[in-house]
Amino acid sequence: MKTLVVYASKHGCAQNAAEKLAKAFGQDAIANNVRNIARIDLEDFDRIIIGGSIHAGRIQGPVKTFAQRNLNLLLQKQTGLFICHMEEDTEKAMKELTDNFPVPLVEHATAKGLFGGEFDLDKMNIIEKFIIKKVAHVTESVSKIHEENIEKFIAAMKD
Ligand SMILES: Cc1cc2nc3c(=O)[nH]c(=O)nc-3n(C[C@H](O)[C@H](O)[C@H](O)COP(=O)(O)O)c2cc1C
Repeated sequence: MKTLVVYASKHGCAQNAAEKLAKAFGQDAIANNVRNIARIDLEDFDRIIIGGSIHAGRIQGPVKTFAQRNLNLLLQKQTGLFICHMEEDTEKAMKELTDNFPVPLVEHATAKGLFGGEFDLDKMNIIEKFIIKKVAHVTESVSKIHEENIEKFIAAMKD
């Protein structure tokens, strides 16, 4: 089964997750940044996973556009959706995911992954650092990746 993982990532968290997924699906799987997606023929793939990270409640615009533009094709494939996020309330995090993809795609998806995330102060610009310190009261880098959710997501997609 050929697998494509399409992702966007600001500081590398969603990129790492996308690469991990591609590795888990074996030789017939690739992870591709949504910025370079024009080079890829989506018809070649049986399974398409889409993910990104949440910043101020929103996923990256190109991820949203990709899902909207290719909706009809995506509904004919096995699909999975994931986000990197720091919202700790599972219900709220799931809402962040479902609010950022077209409803039919959310309903069609085999798996929806809440992968957790990281606040990496070294990778943030001054504005991001300001927001994070003010809103999330974060003063040092922190990693809260939900490895178990990544494993569950992979298992559900392979089922
Ligand atoms: C400026 C800023 C705003 C953020 N806003 C949210 C948010 O609204 N909800 C959330 O769950 N996580 C939020 N996060 C956490 C990111 O989703 C988290 O850092 C994620 O790991 C980033 O993934 P990336 O490195 O792939 O971009 C925010 C992070 C930053 C730096």
